[in-house]
Amino acid sequence: MNIEQLKETAAAMVAPGKGILAMDESHPTCNKRFDALGIATTEENRRAYRDMLVTASGLGDYIGGAILFDETIRQQTLDGTPFAEKLRSAGVVPGIKVDKGAKVLAGHPGEKITEGLDGLRERLAEYYELGARFAKWRAVITIGDGIPSRACQAANAHALARYAALCQEANIVPIVEPEVLMDGTHDIARSYAVTELAQRLLFDELRGQGVVLEGIVLKPSMVISGSDAKQRAGVDEVARETLRCLLNTVPACVPGVAFLSGGQSDEEATGHLNAMNGMGVALPWALTFSYGRALQQAAMQVWDGKSANVAKAQKVLLLRAKCNGYAARGEYSESMEAAA
Ligand code: 13P
Repeated sequence: MNIEQLKETAAAMVAPGKGILAMDESHPTCNKRFDALGIATTEENRRAYRDMLVTASGLGDYIGGAILFDETIRQQTLDGTPFAEKLRSAGVVPGIKVDKGAKVLAGHPGEKITEGLDGLRERLAEYYELGARFAKWRAVITIGDGIPSRACQAANAHALARYAALCQEANIVPIVEPEVLMDGTHDIARSYAVTELAQRLLFDELRGQGVVLEGIVLKPSMVISGSDAKQRAGVDEVARETLRCLLNTVPACVPGVAFLSGGQSDEEATGHLNAMNGMGVALPWALTFSYGRALQQAAMQVWDGKSANVAKAQKVLLLRAKCNGYAARGEYSESMEAAA
């Protein structure tokens, strides 16, 4: 393990004013997004779409890392350049999703455990050869009646830590992602309790497995009301509670915290991040974004599967990247949206 290399990679991923583009949708997820817009779900369309994203000129101004899916890291842009190489030359660190998805947790109806540890050492070695310098593993925690169970929380934290140790052994920075889903009617206090426990158990397990905390990036969900809650907390409360949770659980030596968007609208995700960075609280880690939908959905809609729309879609993508890059500094304002 080369700790200096891990630290350098992590620093580049979450450099000031930059965040991470999560473009690692699995086939089923990517196809679901295409289907919703009436775009044909072919391998070439998935390639062309990702081509549009990575060739957007100026992407590296606001994006420090991009997470690819297994299919994409083996594909090339139209001019024959492998996606990972294209990203690297744009100043964006290429990364790879390595988990095999969240599966039903035995004996725990309604709960999930993420799989993919078997053979991971060998897969990581191959991904390193293909250019990946960081990886992602997403754990899913559902809030509902009587859940999450301690068993679900513990199993997911343990899997995340074993994944992280394998990544660091391969000189790949692990993004550790304990996602507490926003789905449900729960209030923000319940979101806080579940998220804090998820993060607390995660850092216990990371330490237990000997993971070097200077060489990871945490990708948490925000502390936020359930999407169907009767009364949803406002921007300031989400920002305050999320920061309180992170300050209670995340050691100061962690280089970066990069949020997922988790179904928030584009403006909500940007606004929350901006509020946290604009509160005047001195934070020990970079606090930024690793958004999937909140960076891509508007651009995908404009692209619509047509090469004639590429330039327009790239403009939309770059605007979202810029707004979030500014939010990572606490310098975003809604007037920036008008450029759309
Ligand atoms: P969203 O921002 O769409 O939640 O996706 C981020 C991600 O990478 C989930 O694993």
